[in-house]
Amino acid sequence: EQDLRIARIASAIRAIPDFPKPGIMFQDITTLLLDPEAFKDSIDLFVERYKDKNISVVAGIEARGFIFGPPIALAIGAKFVPMRKPGKLPGEVISEEYSLEYGTDVMEMHVGAVQEGDRALVVDDLIATGGTLGAAISLLERVGVTVVECACLIELHELKGRENIHAAGAANSLRIS
Ligand code: PRP
Repeated sequence: EQDLRIARIASAIRAIPDFPKPGIMFQDITTLLLDPEAFKDSIDLFVERYKDKNISVVAGIEARGFIFGPPIALAIGAKFVPMRKPGKLPGEVISEEYSLEYGTDVMEMHVGAVQEGDRALVVDDLIATGGTLGAAISLLERVGVTVVECACLIELHELKGRENIHAAGAANSLRIS
């Protein structure tokens, strides 16, 4: 039954070649959002996994972690915290720089959004190199939060992103592509 739901979710995600650059096969979750049953299945599967894990905060990564994170947070009774690109959050922030294929990027989180002792689930649509999730984990751990797990719909296995994630729990993913 779970496998059936995962298969339905996987078939609702569209792959678009050569976006945003030649050679990249973009995994487009906007087609999943057009299928309310498959979208709901994707949220339900995460909620079933995380509802009894004593999670107090769902940290969603810009941009698509803002789509999947909030419904999971509401369903498990956790607060939602956005992890944003630099210069977007209006209050005082803490920042984490991380490496990209070429160059670096910065992730920001509001000071005071989480407290020491909070237990976090980090949510994004996709893990590639794991650099983005790694930055989110570092930010949360710097302020005394325990990262219970990371949840993504899609994992690009060949990039071995899991190995770049030094969290208490392993990265979880629903779909393998
Ligand atoms: C994608 C994806 C993850 C990140 C994963 O975001 O949504 O956030 O890349 O890559 P990594 O595991 O190698 O760090 P993208 O760069 O497309 O940014 P966007 O969500 O703002 O469009």
